[in-house]
Amino acid sequence: MKSVIIYYSFSGNTKKVAGVLSEHLKEKGPVETIELKSLDESGKFFTQAARAFRRKRAEIAPVNFDLCEHDLLCFGTPVWAFGPAPAMNTFLDICLGTKDKEAILFTTYGSGTGNERCLNYMQDILNKKGAKQFKRFSIQQFKVNDKEFVSSKIKEAL
Ligand SMILES: Cc1cc2nc3c(=O)[nH]c(=O)nc-3n(C[C@H](O)[C@H](O)[C@H](O)COP(=O)(O)O)c2cc1C
Repeated sequence: MKSVIIYYSFSGNTKKVAGVLSEHLKEKGPVETIELKSLDESGKFFTQAARAFRRKRAEIAPVNFDLCEHDLLCFGTPVWAFGPAPAMNTFLDICLGTKDKEAILFTTYGSGTGNERCLNYMQDILNKKGAKQFKRFSIQQFKVNDKEFVSSKIKEAL
């Protein structure tokens, strides 16, 4: 099984979780990891939150957005203002090759407010693009360094 993990991480939490997920998936086959980079990120909390709240799309650095050669598609984002970070929204809009694919959606979050909404938002977009089966997991920001905990959440989800 060929997997791809696409994630956005501003302060490193989601990146850590993506790393642990990659280790798990490597037991099943090759894993490609794509980190999304926002080219117009403000760096200021309120600007970031306001843009995310309005479900803005970010300008992202070029990546391979054709996922057709992968069997399992994984999408990770921090929860920003009850939704995905703008860079993830952009990628979800433009990616190809999602039809009939199995997807894993994962988030990291602070308080947890809006976490389900964020996952539902991502799932809705991918549903409309033909993805079929969804698995989801989320890690609270203070748990991302607890590898055993993260692994257990991943195992539960897989
Ligand atoms: C702009 C902004 C908005 C956020 N909004 C939420 C939110 O609505 N709900 C929540 O639980 N956490 C929220 N957080 C916390 C992040 O989701 C959390 O810190 C996450 O682990 C950051 O991931 P990263 O290090 O990969 O960027 C927000 C953080 C930022 C910077």
